[in-house]
Amino acid sequence: MSVLISLSKVTKTYKLGDDVEVSALRGVDLNINEGEFVAIIGPSGSGKSTLMHMIGILDQPTTGTVELEGKNISKLTEEKLAELRNKHIGFVFQAFNLLPRTSALENVELPLIYSGDSALVRKQKGEESLRVVGLGERMDHTPSQLSGGQQQRVAIARALITKPSLILADEPTGNLDSKAGDEIISLLKDLNKQGNTIVLVTHEREIAEQAKRIVEIKDGQIISDKKIK
Ligand SMILES: Nc1ncnc2c1ncn2[C@@H]1O[C@H](COP(=O)(O)OP(=O)(O)O)[C@@H](O)[C@H]1O
Ligand SMILES: [Mg+2]
Repeated sequence: MSVLISLSKVTKTYKLGDDVEVSALRGVDLNINEGEFVAIIGPSGSGKSTLMHMIGILDQPTTGTVELEGKNISKLTEEKLAELRNKHIGFVFQAFNLLPRTSALENVELPLIYSGDSALVRKQKGEESLRVVGLGERMDHTPSQLSGGQQQRVAIARALITKPSLILADEPTGNLDSKAGDEIISLLKDLNKQGNTIVLVTHEREIAEQAKRIVEIKDGQIISDKKIK
């Protein structure tokens, strides 16, 4: 199975003023293979979001290397990184991050703006992506006309539309009640069964246990990495 993302001896240090530094990651080695469903779990402040930023090439490590499909990303310009991100990675966030007063369909089509697809093709892809997440009947609704769980489905449809190599979800159930949260996790499981690679960041054990592999992080270091049956 081919390696999608590889982190090697990755550290990340944030500078707070002249002489205060925070070591958010302290030497992380992590490979994510095509087709995996990995949960990253750890308490608040353990470095989960920082790690997600590394996996999602949203930020460069302080030291160590990050490779996306075998390619070291450290020398790439911000413009090139943005292009790679857009092509390879679909992001899902706790707060949905949808445009208000904009239909579900238009929200989902947004990542295709620079794709070169015609308006008609963008619309067809957007409709297909909304159907995949079970929102075929809600395409014209704006975020305020949708429940939290439905809004997160729109965000997932938006992440899927470019057919990314990897879906990266940071606490996607954090703003949802437990029923809506369970539905989102079921959807992520289905998407994984259909071949999508998923990395899910959470601080909740029950949610992490729905994945096929659990990577546990504490104080910026991986303290366990287990496959579950
Ligand atoms: N942009 C930043 N500037 C300074 N410190 C940060 C920044 N982002 C995160 N940190 C610090 O790095 C550590 C890890 O944070 P984070 O990755 O957000 O953890 P988690 O997502 O597990 O809660 C924390 O001590 C946090 O305060
Ligand atoms: Mg976080």
